[in-house]
Amino acid sequence: MTPPRKLHIKSYGCQMNVYDAQRMVDSLGGEGFVETASVDEADLVILNTCHIREKASEKVYSELGRLRVAKDEAARQGRAMKIAVAGCVAQAEGDEIIARAPTVDVVVGPQSYHHLPDLLKRAARGERAIETEFPADDKFDHLPAPKRDAIRARGISAFVTVQEGCDKFCTFCVVPYTRGSEISRPVAKIEDEVKRLVDNGVREITLIGQNVNAYHGEGLDGRSWSLGRLLYHLAEIPGVARLRYSTSHPNDVDDSLIAAHRDLSELMPFVHLPVQSGSDRILAAMNRKHTAADYQKVVDKFRTARQDIAFSSDFIVGFPGETEQDFRATLALVAQIGYAAAYSFKYSPRPGTPAADMQEMVPAAEMDERLERLQTLIDSQQSAFNRAAIGTTVDVLFERPARNPGQIVGRTAYLQPAHVMASDEIVGQVLPVRIDGLERYSLLGALAIDATASAPRLSVPSATIGA
Ligand code: SAH
Ligand code: SF4
Ligand code: F3S
Repeated sequence: MTPPRKLHIKSYGCQMNVYDAQRMVDSLGGEGFVETASVDEADLVILNTCHIREKASEKVYSELGRLRVAKDEAARQGRAMKIAVAGCVAQAEGDEIIARAPTVDVVVGPQSYHHLPDLLKRAARGERAIETEFPADDKFDHLPAPKRDAIRARGISAFVTVQEGCDKFCTFCVVPYTRGSEISRPVAKIEDEVKRLVDNGVREITLIGQNVNAYHGEGLDGRSWSLGRLLYHLAEIPGVARLRYSTSHPNDVDDSLIAAHRDLSELMPFVHLPVQSGSDRILAAMNRKHTAADYQKVVDKFRTARQDIAFSSDFIVGFPGETEQDFRATLALVAQIGYAAAYSFKYSPRPGTPAADMQEMVPAAEMDERLERLQTLIDSQQSAFNRAAIGTTVDVLFERPARNPGQIVGRTAYLQPAHVMASDEIVGQVLPVRIDGLERYSLLGALAIDATASAPRLSVPSATIGA
């Protein structure tokens, strides 16, 4: 029997890339590969790249420089190391990668991962193989299909892709070009994957998609189902303690999604709802197709359905033409909404996007200053949100032993890490925790019940609202 070949995969970027990397590992497992944490002993290295901002895509070439050294060293030892570039940089700059980096053997775009075994065979014959086609149909079969029993759960919480691609074409964004137009996976396939993960010990499922609430997959009745309808269906699967979804567009929030938040205790009251800017002028230039007031209305709908709901968001500062007044509108929106967390980025011009041709670049120093002011405001909101948990009892899904001996770490409904002293038998359970302290972004507390005395519980319903 030939010894297994070793695969090292390094992922950058969003949750979708993390998910895709796992699918590649699972599917290449069927080709005789096992994963290794060491680049030096790998027979195949895959860089799963991100193109979203300049910094992200520049990393690829510096990483390839290091890999060339590792590949040469492997060759000296008589081993052939193959190097593949996957992900969004592969999609956007495949030909350039082949031209600029002779060390690369395979370039594969996100829609072609099911061809990876073939591409590797071509590379083994000494060819440099590149595949960056978009699928012609919307059957969502571009993800490699691991053998049924090869799907390995890697913990208590897992991502499941339900939708891919984006038709929104925000003027700053590469995603519609790297991930193609929106396609949704059929409900039956999603259900099957969720069941398998749950059978393997997963308790929390995060449905992911570049534009997840544009989901319109084929339902069990042959009709198109919305994300809300899908969530109702998945909540019925025994063993699913928590459901989440990411990332949503404010314009695609429909009544079924709001109702799902009202009705489903499994659906966590924490929504990532990027707004990018609080200035209507900039929102229009970004092609977001909503105003700050529209966004506020969407947030209000969620809050009416479920009072304890909290939000996170993404912001871009220094979009071309952004004035101090525009930026202040962003600060005002943040102050008005009140976020539990948020990510903010300096605008980065991306080749091929409409905004890259816009004049009036905001000077770098101004961008830095705005980013700092925005982050200070967001940080203060996040700290206040975390401090508000002190003295309350909250449900925590326990994930794993923490670094400190005897401590177990889990997450609250709002993804705050929470630490308690307890036996590791509580991993995988949702238990109430009395929060009595805060250390940086982590909550510290104690179990509010005797976990050993009670039967394991699937879920402790949090305050039932709007029932
Ligand atoms: N809807 C997507 C958004 C992907 S990009 C999703 O699934 O998450 C994540 C965030 O990166 C965006 O919300 C935006 O805030 C930021 N971003 C995208 N393009 C950018 C650019 N050119 N410069 C700076 N930030 C950008
Ligand atoms: Fe990019 Fe806009 Fe689509 Fe999000 S909605 S992926 S920011 S184009
Ligand atoms: Fe990056 Fe592509 Fe995700 S550009 S953020 S890896 S969709």
